[in-house]
Amino acid sequence: MSTVLEARQQGHAYQVLVGPVARRIAGFTQGRDRVALVTCARVLATPHGRRVAAALHREGRVAAIVILPDGERGKTLAVLERSATKLMRAGLTRRSLVVGLGGGAVTDAAGFLAAVFMRGIDWLAVPTTVLAMVDAALGGKTAVNLPLSKNAVGAFHPPVGVLADPASLATLPPRELRSGLGEVLKYGFLRPELLPGLAAEARAGRAGERTIAACAGVKLEIVERDPREKAERKLLNLGHTFGHGVEAAGGFSRWTHGESVAIGMAFAFRLARRMGRVGEAEVEKVEAVLLGAGLPVTVSPSAARKARLLMTHDKKRSAAGLLWVLPIRRPGGWAVEWDVVADPAAVREAAREIGRPG
Ligand SMILES: NC(=O)c1ccc[n+]([C@@H]2O[C@H](COP(=O)([O-])OP(=O)(O)OC[C@H]3O[C@@H](n4cnc5c(N)ncnc54)[C@H](O)[C@@H]3O)[C@@H](O)[C@H]2O)c1
Ligand SMILES: [Zn+2]
Repeated sequence: MSTVLEARQQGHAYQVLVGPVARRIAGFTQGRDRVALVTCARVLATPHGRRVAAALHREGRVAAIVILPDGERGKTLAVLERSATKLMRAGLTRRSLVVGLGGGAVTDAAGFLAAVFMRGIDWLAVPTTVLAMVDAALGGKTAVNLPLSKNAVGAFHPPVGVLADPASLATLPPRELRSGLGEVLKYGFLRPELLPGLAAEARAGRAGERTIAACAGVKLEIVERDPREKAERKLLNLGHTFGHGVEAAGGFSRWTHGESVAIGMAFAFRLARRMGRVGEAEVEKVEAVLLGAGLPVTVSPSAARKARLLMTHDKKRSAAGLLWVLPIRRPGGWAVEWDVVADPAAVREAAREIGRPG
């Protein structure tokens, strides 16, 4: 079984396949003079990694295998230079294909490499984490980091296809899986009609084909309507403003991205309640769903204070201050709105609520 989603973005169409991927690879390598596999050692060593590599080798066009340092260490300009040099030496041309196999760090780095190598060649995304399947590999944003700031150098360069095999998640460390479920639940909070199904999966610590496809579908639909994040795409940042503050407050190691976003979503609902947009029931529901998936919704008082101060460096700002993605009560549930201005006192109070002695 697999699910096929059609992605359309700025005149470019591609398919997102959720299901067994190895036998789909050939369809993307045909007609290419050369293929470069860009991955990391940990993923290449998994059964899924070996299957994908074997499928590419069967096609006989693999000219280079680029092994990136794991995680964020693979998203640097120095690594990009080394990778591009390797593609050049292996004879890749504009008719070649880059295959990015791994988590969001690999798909970001491989996508950006493809975006700039010879001013842009095609790439295929083979995401292997929940986060990469429902977020990073979709929507065409690619980037590497600067020491000063994450994702500071990047390009919009959608892949020619996305092959997401939920079976590959079997080897994912439990904390990475849970972290990805934080983003899964974000889609549930953006689309309350999906929430019961997504919450049940998250509680069971699973992300199967239907879950991945449902979340990917929401992201693709939003990105299609607003590819450049002028309006609706901002919804995807639900929980991310305070969440980025939490990530920074923890030195980018104490909390994973998904954990930080979970805390940020609890914050967003608490801020909305402070502003009279939702009631206590909505806050309780959202926190129960997050806690049920094993995700945090509070931090220590000092971390909450630090997160509040650090989030003022967030990119999504206007002259009026931070612009928020916040829920608002609707008959039978809530809707989520973007570009909401919040009173600094309400922000302080909501941060105080999130900070609880552990
Ligand atoms: N481009 C976008 O729109 C976008 C959106 C969200 C996040 N991102 C980026 O995604 C990155 C985070 O992605 P991530 O959460 O997937 O983390 P990651 O790519 O760092 O992977 C997490 C860890 O899991 C390992 N791993 C990956 N797949 C595995 C598997 N199947 N089995 C065993 N181990 C596996 C990796 O080697 C790594 O150690 C960040 O750099 C972030 O900036 C990009
Ligand atoms: Zn995120």
